[in-house]
Formats: sequence, structure tokens, C-alpha cells
Amino acid sequence: MTNRVKIFDTTLRDGEQALPASLSVKEKLQIALALERLGVDIIEAGFPVSSPGDFKSVQTIAREVKNATVCGLSRAVMNDIDACGEALKVAEQFRIHTFIATSDIHVGAKLRKSQDEVLDMAVAAIKHARRYTDDVEFSCEDAGRTNIDYLCRMVENAIRAGATTVNIPDTVGYTIPSEFGAIIQTLFNRVPNIDQATISVHCHNDLGLAVANSVAAVQHGARQIECTINGIGERAGNCSLEEVAMILKTREAMLGLQTGINSQEIFRTSKLVSQICNMPVQSNKAIVGANAFSHSSGIHQDGILKAQNTYEIMTPESVGINKNHLNLTSRSGRHVIKHRMHELGYKDEDYDLDTLYQAFLKLADKKGQVFDYDLEALVFFDQQKQQQAHYELLYLHANAGKGMIPSATVKMRMGEQEGTASAIGNGPVDAAFNAIIQVTGHDEVEIVDFKLDSKGEGADALAQVSVVAEYRGRRFNGIGLATDIVEAGVKALIYVLNNTCLADQIDEKKQQKIAGV
Ligand code: KIV
Ligand code: ZN
Repeated sequence: MTNRVKIFDTTLRDGEQALPASLSVKEKLQIALALERLGVDIIEAGFPVSSPGDFKSVQTIAREVKNATVCGLSRAVMNDIDACGEALKVAEQFRIHTFIATSDIHVGAKLRKSQDEVLDMAVAAIKHARRYTDDVEFSCEDAGRTNIDYLCRMVENAIRAGATTVNIPDTVGYTIPSEFGAIIQTLFNRVPNIDQATISVHCHNDLGLAVANSVAAVQHGARQIECTINGIGERAGNCSLEEVAMILKTREAMLGLQTGINSQEIFRTSKLVSQICNMPVQSNKAIVGANAFSHSSGIHQDGILKAQNTYEIMTPESVGINKNHLNLTSRSGRHVIKHRMHELGYKDEDYDLDTLYQAFLKLADKKGQVFDYDLEALVFFDQQKQQQAHYELLYLHANAGKGMIPSATVKMRMGEQEGTASAIGNGPVDAAFNAIIQVTGHDEVEIVDFKLDSKGEGADALAQVSVVAEYRGRRFNGIGLATDIVEAGVKALIYVLNNTCLADQIDEKKQQKIAGV
């Protein structure tokens, strides 16, 4: 048996499923390209049948990603599989992932079918998926709570029907490591054709055991781990990619297993996913938390200064954290910015140095010191600006104070046109939002969540506003960053409006395709 464990990333499917609002096609592509750089083997890009937006994301990722297999999810339903095949056919290498539940509780209460009927559906789905590709994965949903005899029968039949990977999910995060390891071991002992497929695991974190269960599974022969960046996913999330990858690397001598992950890309990918998904990483999170490599106690600090391995089992550099930095201020030259971007893992073609440097100087004038986070945010927001240019804020003025009615005036570019509006509100942000809705005419957009955060360090931090808005039954997420709270809020709202326009365009194209126009 090989010692190479495949890393199957499902940040864009299981992870995205758990976000308050779906990501745009561009955001998903940005994450997919980061995952490709990180060296994951398989990227599960989405669930194509679920919406035109998801179809488009999977198709775009399938077209752009060259060094990882791109995968789409489908229920054991022919229409789902056809949507996957259609979205993925532009890829260099692709996989169709089809699933059906196998535990008594799911088979009886959810599917309301007999075990034999479910088995027949699984076999038919796998055979149908094989018409599109030789790379078919089948998942036994809720395998962790499935009767072991039935699970063995299902795995054997799935492999016979043509599944090349069989996934054993602990869908509800119920098992404990010795128990989950024993399930995998039993499959290896009892399924006669098990050597004809890769056995995969997909563990949820409801009891905080997703990573431990995944490690137990590879110790018993599983050779694919499904995981997400920062462990995001349904409920308490999925197995965290950075943790499992660093366990296999740091304890390689003991476990004897390797992955293709380039660990130096871990920190950067984690920050990108956290930023785009607007999901903060807890400071004491293993590997990527802000405190993961900081030492507080005097005894520990003394130890570290004498020998780093007294209190560090891996180096921050090994996950892409560089602690020795020059301060960045308005006196820093272009070459310093370029050098720092290089240290952060950006290649020259990933950003425009002139645009970044101008934005950096403006920010440095306002803030004094500029941090790595600020630089990455500037690149991120510049990319957004280039991508979603239908609405742009040209002018903003807001008034508020004790005893005054808050008011705001905005001037916007809307495609080829420009418009101005003034409005009042409960506060300056509300007034600015009302003015924007007035000038754009987007009165179908309803704000359902508004969060204010500070990004960066100390009193110099930037304001980050995230907005979730509902539009035509779907939720959209927008993030805005500025030194000023009102401007940050306005940027977040404009980001949402640009995304609703893109979604409308995708829906329209899909409708035209269905109508054969
Ligand atoms: O948790 C789960 O069982 C899943 C399957 C679709 C693989 O996400
Ligand atoms: Zn899952």
C-alpha cells in the first residue's frame, strides 16, 4: 500500500455550505487557485445542480485549475450527475463525487427506502457517473453510524460498479478515534475488492475529533483525507487541512505517511480563506491562530531563546509565517513592498505593484505603520475592484452628531452612468446606505446582518464592515475596509450590489440556455 495520503479539499463545497452567504464565482476561483498553489490533490469546487452560480463556479474552476483534480458533488440522482459532468467537462482532470446516506436513521427516516433500494440507487449513480469519467468517488453518508455489515456490502458493490474512491464520512462527528479506526480496519478485513479503490474519510467536528478521527483512519489504511482550510464546514466544521497536513509532516517518522502539501503556503491560504469567507480564525487555533507560535511565559521565552525546539515542535517558517519584518511606513520604497509581498508568497503576476504602492502610500499617510494584513487587504480589495466594476463609489459625505439628524450624500458610477443622492437615516451608515439604495434603485436588497470589526493593530487598525444581504431569495456577503467606518460600510454594500448584478447575469444566461436562445 502506498504511503502517500491524498488531500481532498472541500472548503468550496462543505465549507461554503456553512457560510451565511454564498461566495461569488471570482471569490471561489481565488480560493481554488490558492488551494492549487498549496498542493492539494483534489478540489471539491461545489455542487453544480444546486444553483446557476454554483454551476458557473465549478465550471470556471474546472477551466482555470491545472495542477489539481477538480471535483463536483452530486446526489445519487441522474440529473445531479449530468450537471456535474456538464460543468466539469472543460477540466484537464475531473472527478464526479456522488453520495447517498447509508445509516438506518437516514435510510429509514430521511430517504424512506429499504437498504436494497438505496444500494441499487448507489450502483446506478456510480455507473452513470462513469459515463463521464473514470474518476468517480462514492460517499456513504453517515457511514460512522451505519450498520457495519451493510457498510461492507455497500463498499463492495460501489467498487464493483466502478467507484475508484470510496469515502467513509463521519457526517455528524459522532465517532471516537479508536472506533472510527476500527471501522476502516473492518472494511479492509472484510471487503474482498477493497484494493481496487482508494478509501477516503470525511470527518465532521461536532465533538472536536475530526482531525483525530482522520489520523486514526489513515493509520488503518485510508489514503485520502477530506478537509477544509481553517476547518470550516457544516455546524462545528470539518477536519482542518492545516492541522492534518502538519500532523503528517511533523510526525512523519512515527506515521510513515506523506502528503503533497507545500506547508509554506498554509498560513497565507488560511488568511485568504478567512478574509474572503469573513470567518475569523480563533487566536489559539493550532497552526494558523495568531498565538500558535507566540510564547508568553518568561520560562518559555527563555527556553526559546536558548533553543527553539524547547517549546516549538515545528517552526513558524515551515507554515509560511515570517516573524522578522522591517516596519512599513510612508518612507518605505517600492522595492521594500515588492520584497514583503514576495515574503508573503505573492508572485509578481499576482498583483499590480504600481497600484499597490499608490494605495500603500495613501494608507501609510493615514495610519503611520502598515502591516502585512493591510497589504494583503489592499491586494484583495484591488482585485475586487477590477472584477466588479458595475458600481463604484465616487464621493461620500456623511454627517452625524448629538442633536442632529444623520444624513449622507453619495455619488456613484453605475456602469456608464453617474448619479448622486442624499438621504437621512438612524445613523451615518444607515443614511449612506439609504442614499446608495436610492441612487441605484436596488430596493429589493434587504440587509440582514451588519458586523463591524477592526483589522490591523492598535489604534491604527482599519475598520472592516461585513454585510449580509438578501436578494431574490439568496444571501450575498460583502466586506469593506477603510480607515472610516461609514466608508467601510458603503464599500461592503457596493460589493454586495455588484455581486447581485453578477448573479443576475448568470441567471439570465442560464435561462437563455434553457430556452435555447
Ligand atoms: O458530511 C458528509 O457526509 C458529506 C458528504 C456529502 C460527503 O459532506
Ligand atoms: Zn460533510
